[in-house]
Amino acid sequence: MVRGEVIDGKQIAKEIRLELKEEVERLTRLNVRPGLAVILVGEDPASQTYVRGKVRACEEVGIYSEFIQLPAETSEKDLLARIDRLNRDAAIHGILVQLPLPKQISPDRVIAAIDPEKDVDGFHPIQAGRLLTGLDAYLPCTPHGILQLLKRTGISLEGKHAVVVGRSNIVGKPVSLLLQRENATVTMCHSRTKDLSYHTRQADILIAAVGRYHIIGAEHVKEGAVVIDVGMNRSPEGKLAGDVDFEAVRTLASHITPVPGGVGPMTIAMLLHNTIRSAERMAA
Ligand code: GUN
Repeated sequence: MVRGEVIDGKQIAKEIRLELKEEVERLTRLNVRPGLAVILVGEDPASQTYVRGKVRACEEVGIYSEFIQLPAETSEKDLLARIDRLNRDAAIHGILVQLPLPKQISPDRVIAAIDPEKDVDGFHPIQAGRLLTGLDAYLPCTPHGILQLLKRTGISLEGKHAVVVGRSNIVGKPVSLLLQRENATVTMCHSRTKDLSYHTRQADILIAAVGRYHIIGAEHVKEGAVVIDVGMNRSPEGKLAGDVDFEAVRTLASHITPVPGGVGPMTIAMLLHNTIRSAERMAA
């Protein structure tokens, strides 16, 4: 039995970016250049790092990108006006507003203002509803990245018991739907689940997406389980760390993703994928 194999998300994402680069070259020959607008409101250091990574990845694969940095005190009205202009801009196929937003701005109103056809995050209620009902949709980037990690590592989901810890709109809910679509049996847990380890110990595939440092330890994991860590937390020493106690869980798990270098790079790769798909559809 395989034990402690570390899934290299950085490498898998790099392979996907190479595939996407070829697709962009093909589209560019047809005079279609995919374009992504990334909006960041405020100066949160973590958000700045994520956004820079997204813009850099666009450059690498040949996607046109516009980075719009707005001051923290930007009004909701101003942001909505920006989105309206981007909705009507033919050079832009994807619009991403980095979350979280400052408190004077409603994320729900902002997400709803993005043209659903340009919603490459897959956060718009129309896209979320399409995913829920099994229609063709932009898949949210982190859940789609997780699915790709599993597939490209050769892990089958058919008939497996997947346990998802976390119920966010960005990760927990959509990844549960995607796993179910792949014929896994899915249990959804969250921060208020009683006896969490009872549930997580049933998992063939355990997805940790709560956003709480080391909420998953050895006592939560069945021997031979696949463990996917979506957490992005700071350890008490200030280091970037996931929801899973990696060292403690690694020896039990068959496969495990590290933080950083696991799910994170895949999220960006899937954002590029959605942007290219949007450009293709708009050109068709
Ligand atoms: N904040 C954390 N993750 C994400 C993401 O995938 N998209 C956006 N827009 N904001 C985020």
